[in-house]
Amino acid sequence: MTKKIFTDCVQRLIKTFNEIDLTDQSVYMNWLAQTYYYTSHSEQLLNTFANDSQNLDIKNRWLSHANEESGHENLALSDLKRLGGNIEDYPELQITKDLYEKQVGISKRSSGIAPFGWALALEGLAAYVNDDYIEAISKAHGKKATRFIRVHAEEDEDHIEKALEMVSFIGDNKEIEDNIKLTSDIYCQLLMTCYKIGKSYKNVA
Ligand SMILES: [Fe+2]
Repeated sequence: MTKKIFTDCVQRLIKTFNEIDLTDQSVYMNWLAQTYYYTSHSEQLLNTFANDSQNLDIKNRWLSHANEESGHENLALSDLKRLGGNIEDYPELQITKDLYEKQVGISKRSSGIAPFGWALALEGLAAYVNDDYIEAISKAHGKKATRFIRVHAEEDEDHIEKALEMVSFIGDNKEIEDNIKLTSDIYCQLLMTCYKIGKSYKNVA
């Protein structure tokens, strides 16, 4: 069941990710800024999941993931700067905060188990997003302004395999399933908001 929910949610995420058209510069810059905000919390959030975990394998999994995410927010920020963007012009949205703030309580209540839903949704998107789309985004903005997206599209296939292995070890789990859905809903809303704001910038300009 968890695998089926995972597949459905990732398909929905990829569909929305394609639809907002990140080859459009204003949409892409808004997305980079919001990505910078939420990924600024990833390392600390993953360490919180580790602290909440009682199983040593799960704790170590979160700790190594925290290590891998360290500094990734700087990739998004430097991509934004490359395109002449100033982070102060892009305030953090409430939906962006929802992406990480809700996970603190979810982790505590489930002893670090339910956050696998968060990791699966976000890493599933990164791992399965279409290569041609990444190539088109890279071509539209240049290689130096697409480091965040390229690093994640290339590296996360390994992450997702590790996460799925851990989830099959845990077995079907409603808290993980609910969190895959919640995280996918929030991330789709975040994408749509970046799209709407990006388009409205364009109409004003
Ligand atoms: Fe990352």
